[in-house]
Amino acid sequence: MRKKIVAGNWKMNLNYEEGQKLTSEIVNMYKDENIKDVTVVLNPPFVHLFPVKKLIGNTPNLFLGSQNCSEKAAGAYTGETSASMLKSFGAEYVILGHSERREYFKESNELLTAKVRQALDNGLTPIFCCGEPLEIREAGTHEAYVKNQLTESLFGLSAEDFAKIVIAYEPIWAIGTGKTASSDQAQEMHKALREHLASKFGQEAADNTSILYGGSCNPGNAKDIFSKVDVDGGLIGGASLKSRDFMDIIKSF
Ligand code: PGA
Repeated sequence: MRKKIVAGNWKMNLNYEEGQKLTSEIVNMYKDENIKDVTVVLNPPFVHLFPVKKLIGNTPNLFLGSQNCSEKAAGAYTGETSASMLKSFGAEYVILGHSERREYFKESNELLTAKVRQALDNGLTPIFCCGEPLEIREAGTHEAYVKNQLTESLFGLSAEDFAKIVIAYEPIWAIGTGKTASSDQAQEMHKALREHLASKFGQEAADNTSILYGGSCNPGNAKDIFSKVDVDGGLIGGASLKSRDFMDIIKSF
């Protein structure tokens, strides 16, 4: 059975006090509001990881994740953070291949293969992001484009490693724009991706893979999007910075 997952991506937002306040609110609401069967992941910037983990503690089903990791194991790579460091500070998940990293930091499908390897070798669950820009959507080649991202970065994995991957489909034209993909557009792509994964790893493995939707997801549209059969949760940017909104999204299943 695949997991329902809601992951918050803080991006490069919040100072120390703001991060602590947001986390405390989420942890308290999470405990009070009797959330069931949803895995929740907070993905703050690197400097927040340790203090956020302290607040999360051992709350069941509430996990820490990072927004990136190095493709290298260790060494003279100034400014980088390794997967093994993340794990040692309590992270369980890592977002890889977010479109902002692909665009602004030129992360290629090939580079992401190495990052996925580092994550898996260090016991982190990759939340592997994929998604098409507007011009590809308008040209009608979006399914081929996104399938290719998965093929190039993930199809070299063993079945055992692939079983640990979470996918996040995030159409770039919907990220931070307020323009969500319709729930039907999300379902259409998620179904196509699941079929693509089945063609390589088999139907059972594909059926067990959580595929999250991301892009302007909010408390007003999450229920509709999460109701689709191939949508297993969300990767939430802007709305994850407000505790009430984030909790309402978690409660939209
Ligand atoms: P958004 O961001 O929810 O602010 O659109 C989603 C993401 O980039 O992960």
